[in-house]
Amino acid sequence: MLELKNHEHNDLFWITLRDGNVRLATLNADPGYQVYTERLIKIDEKEYRTFDPFKSKLAAAIRSNMKTYPFSKGCSVLYLGAASGTTVSHVSDMIGENGVIYALEFSSRSVSDLINIAERRKNIIPIHADARFPEGYSFTVPMVDILYEDVAQPTQAEILNANIKAFLKKGGYFFIAVKARSIDVTKEPKLIYKEVEEQLKSFGLTILETIDLESFEKDHVMIIGQK
Ligand SMILES: C[S@@+](CC[C@H](N)C(=O)[O-])C[C@H]1O[C@@H](n2cnc3c(N)ncnc32)[C@H](O)[C@@H]1O
Repeated sequence: MLELKNHEHNDLFWITLRDGNVRLATLNADPGYQVYTERLIKIDEKEYRTFDPFKSKLAAAIRSNMKTYPFSKGCSVLYLGAASGTTVSHVSDMIGENGVIYALEFSSRSVSDLINIAERRKNIIPIHADARFPEGYSFTVPMVDILYEDVAQPTQAEILNANIKAFLKKGGYFFIAVKARSIDVTKEPKLIYKEVEEQLKSFGLTILETIDLESFEKDHVMIIGQK
């Protein structure tokens, strides 16, 4: 039998499958429609989407006991490096129809996927732009509650800081997925994570937690903090 339980964080769920395996899930805001390879599961007239930690670093962080959870119904998010919308679509489920997620991506091909998803999910606003140049989208994006960055670039800390200055409300939360090999393939990953943390502190940001995503993504951490 399928079993549904609330996760300790709002708008997230645990589903026990018939084979006994447990999956993280969100409530599907667009029932009947799959965004990637997630499973759609109906329980008590509602449809849930499995949130795959091998496909989403946010799901990987949540599965690795992420404590900071600022997502709530109606909040606003700027997401840098939205790709084809895998994680964006789950954030869209989590923040509800009164929330908004500005999904920024510079690859034209990925942006066309994002546009297709945004036609079905009204809380997603796709933006075709380069995250290195916030002035290019400052007319479209207001001050937001949460800034999420997953761009896998060597200068990702600087990119994050430029966007925090332009768009994150004071006291707002930031998430940065750090891929050690995108920064320096020759350095020990732990050293790279420390350097990124120090860099973020030097920008005047507060770090709340650094989550090792190793169980799901090799040589990655998620750093979460506050402006
Ligand atoms: C690791 S993927 C993101 C995966 C996505 N966050 C998810 O969980 O579904 C990194 C993405 O960042 C995009 N990207 C890299 N540099 C960028 C930049 N300067 N501006 C906008 N997008 C960028 C890439 O095109 C790529 O789609």
